[in-house]
Amino acid sequence: MRLTTLRLQNFRNHAESFFEFGNNANLILGENGQGKTNILEAISYLCLTKSFYASSDAVVLRLGTEFFEQEGTFVSESGNENKVRVAYDKQQTQKAYFINKKSVEPFSTVIGKFPVVICSPEHNPITSGGPEERRRFADFVISQASSVYLKSLMEYRRVIKQRNKILLDARIGNMNPSGLLESWDEQLLQHGATLTHRRKLFVDGFKNILHSSYHELVGSEEEPQIEYSPFAESFSSEDDCRRLLKTLLVQNRKEELRVGSTLIGPHRDEFVFTVNGLDLRKYGSQGQHKTFLVGLKLGEFFYLKNLCNETPLLLLDDIFSELDERRSKRLLDFVGTISQTFITSTSVKWFEPFVEFNHTNRKFFIKNGSVVPEEEVIVA
Ligand SMILES: Nc1ncnc2c1ncn2[C@@H]1O[C@H](COP(=O)(O)OP(=O)(O)O)[C@@H](O)[C@H]1O
Ligand SMILES: [Mg+2]
Repeated sequence: MRLTTLRLQNFRNHAESFFEFGNNANLILGENGQGKTNILEAISYLCLTKSFYASSDAVVLRLGTEFFEQEGTFVSESGNENKVRVAYDKQQTQKAYFINKKSVEPFSTVIGKFPVVICSPEHNPITSGGPEERRRFADFVISQASSVYLKSLMEYRRVIKQRNKILLDARIGNMNPSGLLESWDEQLLQHGATLTHRRKLFVDGFKNILHSSYHELVGSEEEPQIEYSPFAESFSSEDDCRRLLKTLLVQNRKEELRVGSTLIGPHRDEFVFTVNGLDLRKYGSQGQHKTFLVGLKLGEFFYLKNLCNETPLLLLDDIFSELDERRSKRLLDFVGTISQTFITSTSVKWFEPFVEFNHTNRKFFIKNGSVVPEEEVIVA
């Protein structure tokens, strides 16, 4: 899949910007704070209906304006063209999403249609932060490839919220909530087992992909690994997982009442990352963290490419300043060949020796929220 055009209106600091992208590498250059990342954020709106990092639509609305809009043209591998438009109105505090002028709802049905992989400093916590960061990563990847998973995930979150409320109310009121919990327990078992089983399958398949992606960057002197650590040591099927979950739920009922929240289930899972057998979080160098993150993101790319039948877009935000020259060169050689890529950087120095700019590899210079001619921008 390719994004051939993009128009932004009142999006972050872009009053009105228009791009015709090349099929391979698209380099977005400029000094800090000029609006480069904002362009990647706008692409994520088109692909995912939302920002990859802002928590609300209102904050991306250009200050002092009443509405924002992004419009893009996607061309699929089979040559189908889709015009996608996202529009937000401040008065109505509402967003609308259109594919070929037809309004799409709910937004969750868009997920997976326009696969995208984003690697940005916003994602650093995936390797360095708490377990919820790794769960979010896994959920996001699996959801783009599986609508069943996404549905179960949304249901499961609702169940945990309701169940926690009942447990907390019961603790405060000193009541027995068994009757109230019954139907929520059933749903917790159903969706909890689906999520856990599918996360396990995901990690089983992802291990090899991570391996080869990581080795694209560093050769074979470092061995990356990902291990899934759910509530039960092992289970053979979704049914088996459900049975184990049920047993643990019964065993933990007293403790849940004491603390007033749900203690067992995939919302407490961990994914452990190691390099050469050592826990990355405890022992990894900064370079290993960054390499692992890029390895995960390239892994995500290949995973989605296999399952979505479309090659995802690859958005790399400020990656090259944090990798050493050898890893940068390997990454650039590699991504140039696998997909349409959007790369932001303050410096053109990583790219000039390796990239020949023409109609498939393009560079855009950004200053103060506008695309400007090269000579207006000082880039090292
Ligand atoms: N809602 C908004 N309205 C106007 N400007 C904004 C808005 N949100 C962020 N900005 C501006 O966008 C700029 C940051 O853009 P960004 O794309 O992150 O820069 P960079 O080029 O460093 O990636 C800052 O100057 C910031 O003030
Ligand atoms: Mg930036």
